[in-house]
Amino acid sequence: LTGYITIDSGYKNTGSTTSAITFLDGEEGILRYRGYPIEQLAEQASFLEVAYLLIYGELPTQSELEQFENSITKHTLVHEDMKQFFEAYPAKAHPMGVLASMICSLSSFYPESLDPNRSNDAKNLTIHRLLAKLPTLAAWSYKNSMRHPFNYPNNEYDYVKNFMHMMFSLPSEKYEVNPVVVSALNKLLILHADHEQNCSTSTVRIVGSSQANLYATISSGIAALWGPLHGGANQAVIEMLEKIHNDGGDVDKWVAKAKDKDDPFRLMGFGHRVYKNFDPRATIIKKACDDVLQAMNIHDPLLDIAKKLEKYALEDEYFKARNLYPNVDFYSGIIYKAIGIPTDMFTVMFALGRLPGWIAQWKEMTENGEPIGRPRQIYTGYTTRDYVAIDKR
Ligand code: SDX
Repeated sequence: LTGYITIDSGYKNTGSTTSAITFLDGEEGILRYRGYPIEQLAEQASFLEVAYLLIYGELPTQSELEQFENSITKHTLVHEDMKQFFEAYPAKAHPMGVLASMICSLSSFYPESLDPNRSNDAKNLTIHRLLAKLPTLAAWSYKNSMRHPFNYPNNEYDYVKNFMHMMFSLPSEKYEVNPVVVSALNKLLILHADHEQNCSTSTVRIVGSSQANLYATISSGIAALWGPLHGGANQAVIEMLEKIHNDGGDVDKWVAKAKDKDDPFRLMGFGHRVYKNFDPRATIIKKACDDVLQAMNIHDPLLDIAKKLEKYALEDEYFKARNLYPNVDFYSGIIYKAIGIPTDMFTVMFALGRLPGWIAQWKEMTENGEPIGRPRQIYTGYTTRDYVAIDKR
């Protein structure tokens, strides 16, 4: 080996790239997309406006936004042949697995996406198709699991309303999307849109660096996000809160389990690799949680349990010593549950939000001409040894 190799397991102190997309300050709890604070974007922007900002670098003018929205609306339909894929999936298949394979198979329908030297227009067509079709495929994976008829996109609706329509409309009854739900989902999608070099985004960058097509690259991001330590945490949080609730709601007992050195119970939705005082997204989502439940006149006992758990983060030495406090996944599931999203679709909601961030990071990596990712290692196995015939082993 020429020179020396340093190992940084989990890349806790390793930078993989330079980027102009998202800025995080872990100490101060700051998150900005292209310089705009998420607090302002979450309150004032639409999700597609933020998607445009992340991918193309500037807030769109009115006409740029309309062009972007129209282009996406035009591609919300999914090829009828995709239904055959769905029929092959058992109803119990997890939507993240269905989605990862559906998205990857889209390249079969759009050969221009396979050409690494495709034109800018072809690249934007692939980007707009992804933004347009992920909600349709997500809703269809839910309808497939319910064995309900699929809903086609209604291009009169905006992005979020269309998704809710495709998820919950039934031919047999009228479905009206609640504006409170649309506003809460718009905010949640914005808050999940990008987060610099997290696990799934780093996966997207390294898979994209091999010049794999963008559909396959995004499919790898969906797979990475599925893990319970990453985007799968929002589903794990609700399962944890329900476990505590069904066990009588004794929060102290479960916190003691989390401190049990021999068999620690991991408090899902707590802690973060970068944020060391609080996750600014959790602060906004917690407020949105109160607003949505109040507007929908829902009292969810899981929210009371969540708030009791959060109190530990502020007061308990074990929590403070380990910077354990709610992260983005802690309260989001309570909102998804309140608006009728099934638990196994929570991480799909995270993927819908993170899609523009993955695309923006892939676009930046490819346009910067970054080399294929290929880390080295320190070898710790056997030195050389000779083959032994099987009858001599
Ligand atoms: C996301 O990177 C991103 O930006 C991700 C994300 C994004 O937007 O892309 O923000 C989204 O993934 C948020 C995180 C969702 N995951 C969870 O909520 C799962 C629970 N949290 C953890 O597993 C953990 O906190 C991580 C994965 C989030 C961070 O892991 P680290 O930085 O590797 O920290 P660690 O596992 O080394 O823990 C440090 C200490 C350990 O204690 P000691 O062994 O030193 O005594 O804190 C403890 C851990 O045991 N600890 C926890 C804990 N998280 C860390 N103890 C109990 N419950 C927890 N949740």
